Amino acid sequence: LPSIYNLEVLGKLEDSFKIIIVARKDYQTADYAEIAKSWVKEYSRKKFDEAIFEKFTARIRYFKMDIADTEEYRRLKDFYGEEQVGEHVYYYAVAPKLFIPITKGLEKYLSENNAKVIIEKPFGENLETAARLNEELAGFFGQDEIYHIDHYLGKEMIQNILSIRFKNAIFKGIWNRDFIESVQITAAETVGVGTRAGYYDKNGALKDMVQNHLFQVLSIVAMEEPVYNNIAQRQLELLKSLEPIEDIDSDLILGQYEGYLNEEKIKPDSKTETYAAMKLYIDNARWEGVPFYIRTGKMLGNRESQVVIKFKPENNEISNVLVIKIQPDEGIHLRFNAKKPGTENELQTVSMDFFQSSVLENRINTPEAYERLLYACFNGDRSLFSKWDQIVVSWNYMADVRKRYEAAGWKLYTYPQGSMGPKIADRLFDWSE
Ligand code: BG6
Repeated sequence: LPSIYNLEVLGKLEDSFKIIIVARKDYQTADYAEIAKSWVKEYSRKKFDEAIFEKFTARIRYFKMDIADTEEYRRLKDFYGEEQVGEHVYYYAVAPKLFIPITKGLEKYLSENNAKVIIEKPFGENLETAARLNEELAGFFGQDEIYHIDHYLGKEMIQNILSIRFKNAIFKGIWNRDFIESVQITAAETVGVGTRAGYYDKNGALKDMVQNHLFQVLSIVAMEEPVYNNIAQRQLELLKSLEPIEDIDSDLILGQYEGYLNEEKIKPDSKTETYAAMKLYIDNARWEGVPFYIRTGKMLGNRESQVVIKFKPENNEISNVLVIKIQPDEGIHLRFNAKKPGTENELQTVSMDFFQSSVLENRINTPEAYERLLYACFNGDRSLFSKWDQIVVSWNYMADVRKRYEAAGWKLYTYPQGSMGPKIADRLFDWSE
């Protein structure tokens, strides 16, 4: 809702646009609008404006029903008739086990009528259930109308990686194994599992962050240059060329923050990982031999997502480093060598920073990821959504990783809250670069 409110502020919603909230709690539309107001005030990037919110809120209708009961969809159909709702975007903001009951209910009483459906990860509990869900949804909506949301694809700086890589002669020509020594992708979070224990404990960092968000980033950082906007195809090719982790015992590190087992609704003997770090290689001519280090975790010392490209040193000098900062700061940091003033030929490492989010105007104009993605979906633009075949490749890859790690004993290292993860991960890589 805060994202759609932003679209309202920008005048991007058609007059006939309506938001139907379908849920089981006993609210009236007016009650729900009040709750929406508090969310919009708290989370929208655009300033709250009473008049605009009024226009926005007039679009909202609350419809109470049991979404798991197929017969209730007859009432929903009548409601749509009364409200004169035309073309639909259904947003399944529910657990995957409800995807099929909802789709069956819609199928029984509503026509497909160019409807689109947005679904959130996880798209199932494993690849088999994900495939079943996909088949069921595709049967009603059609494969091309399923929008798998991965909000990382909507982030400003993830999109910017494309521009940085392909619109600059200084980077384009050196983005390969001849010049790059290593690539590091980090998504560090300070939050814990919060109120999402039921979901999180079944999934863990590998499924929650790595196989979707971080593989999206990895594939954009490493893919070949797209032609005719075939980004998804390029990402898919890259994901297919990921080599299996060589030494599963030392190249994959899973951790759990201290206190996780005492969190509400977490199984007391849970082996779920809240931290994952790994070393990966890509089997293609561009990247042969270049290690990619991926790391993510909850309850870490600071919130920071970034991509660090470390270049091969020139004559044993200090390596050049390019840091693409994704969040919370957005920008680019480049480190290089220059002559130290006043010396004969001594070097010093200097840096140049482009701090995009320091400029107020940029900050306000940076569409939140969901705003960008929802707007794209409303307009039928699929380029910012995960494709089913990418999801299959990522799931398969990670399923194999998990299987091998399990067979090797599923070692789980604990780490203190507020640290940067298990100490042993420092053996894998010097993350401080
Ligand atoms: C979600 C994960 O997809 O992404 C969460 O389920 C995680 O566990 C979140 O906290 C991180 O998103 P962001 O935008 O804060 O990096």
